[in-house]
Amino acid sequence: MRKALLGAAFAGALVVSALVGVGTSQAATSQPCDIYATGGTPCVAAHSTTRALYGTYNGPLYQVRRASDNATQDIAPVAAGSYANAAAQDSFCANTSCVITIIYDQSGRNNRLTQAPPGGFNGPAAGGYDNLANATAAPVTIGGHKAYGVFVAPGTGYRNNNTNGIATGDQPEGMYAIFDGTHYNAGCCFDYGNAERNSRDNGNGTMEAIYFGNIKAWGYGTGNGPWIMADLENGLFSGVNPGYNSNDPSIANRFVTAIVKGEPNHWSIRGANAQSGGLSTFYNGARPNASGYNPMKKEGAIILGIGGDNSNSSAGTFYEGVMTSGYPSDATENSVQANIVAANYNTSGQGSGTTLTPGQSISLRATTACCTTRYISHSGSAVNTAVVSASSAATDKANASWIVRAGLGNSSCYSFESKNTGGQYLRHQNYQISLQANDGSALFAQDATFCSEAGKNGQGNALRSLNFSDRYIRHYNNLLYIASNGGSNTWDAAALWSDDVSWVVTAPWTP
Ligand code: AHR
Repeated sequence: MRKALLGAAFAGALVVSALVGVGTSQAATSQPCDIYATGGTPCVAAHSTTRALYGTYNGPLYQVRRASDNATQDIAPVAAGSYANAAAQDSFCANTSCVITIIYDQSGRNNRLTQAPPGGFNGPAAGGYDNLANATAAPVTIGGHKAYGVFVAPGTGYRNNNTNGIATGDQPEGMYAIFDGTHYNAGCCFDYGNAERNSRDNGNGTMEAIYFGNIKAWGYGTGNGPWIMADLENGLFSGVNPGYNSNDPSIANRFVTAIVKGEPNHWSIRGANAQSGGLSTFYNGARPNASGYNPMKKEGAIILGIGGDNSNSSAGTFYEGVMTSGYPSDATENSVQANIVAANYNTSGQGSGTTLTPGQSISLRATTACCTTRYISHSGSAVNTAVVSASSAATDKANASWIVRAGLGNSSCYSFESKNTGGQYLRHQNYQISLQANDGSALFAQDATFCSEAGKNGQGNALRSLNFSDRYIRHYNNLLYIASNGGSNTWDAAALWSDDVSWVVTAPWTP
């Protein structure tokens, strides 16, 4: 009888979620955690910077801190059950930069995520903590409304080692997360889920987290990745075997739904395109045939963007995710996937300044009052700003002209090839920008890729480093750097930062 009632309620939730997208503010909207509750496996942690994960949730989603005065502000949904108020972030962070300091837990258990502390490995921030994510680095739309995800550049990480209600030992649990399927790397380990409470490697079976990326040190699947795998500690598993499992495909949709769930001697990996279609099951069976994973010894901390021992060389982008109590049914997850598709995640052209088109030639003019006749230029391999005008020599004009290319390290971003020195790109090294030939390495691709945002002073574009996501192309004493707002290098100086990182995209001096 109870099963029949649950089934009826569940079918109702399915219909409501299919009909009502995230754009509405009706309290009756059934969101992912309502669906999990109806399925008998309630959320015990619910994290999202883009939307409410319960139809009635109207508390804070996340907190940002701005560099100009270290003030903080909570960002909430625009209405109960709805999308995040990104406009509130934009106005709070105007003319400066912001990081995400807290990702709140919507489940009521206070399982919030904050800056990850040092553990087996130190992070790059003060005291060995990991970096916080740049709050504007992952713009998207959801239901047509602007929102921001959590952009994890290497060194970034969030954690909660003192949780409430998360599975421990061999207890059953489920989890899903939505990631950017085009932003990943082969560093260890872009994870979301259950980890050790002391930030250290406590042995096989002391973690159970979703992994996303293309590291092959442990498990892997078909193709070149990225793969959804389970991080069970001292091993990323793509199926029952350590190493290769032929059922785990590469999955690189722009938005990926990733699922890992586990119960005594049974676990599963599932995945989908978060923009359309249903979930596929990539593994469903017994615990790995390696010792130490049955029974599991889960500890119940929560990590985002790092490995269990605070390994922090991984990259990825997170939009939302939950952890449940109990092993969710496939049917429940299928309904959550329908809700995710209906929520309508999309890429954002908004807030990215002047549109850049690969193949287009441009020049980039400084906007700081001192320097509005100066353009990003090169002289051999040295890169600076130089005054260029209609009467400049042809070489000077060509030195200040650039061909926009799809980002070598991420095609949603850009690389800038010299107009008169083909095959050479703007690239940072030790934080300074120079012109260098593409050597084909993964590091070069990362160092030569910049993501476009609206200019920080309201003019033109700001060009964010792909692999140092709190740093933007800046001129300082007429030389070019990647600079954070108020960091420890001289070129990170807070004074004039928002002007110095803002560039007007002009017609090229050399067409
Ligand atoms: O299991 C893979 C990784 O191994 C874990 O995330 C980390 O704790 C250890 O280095």
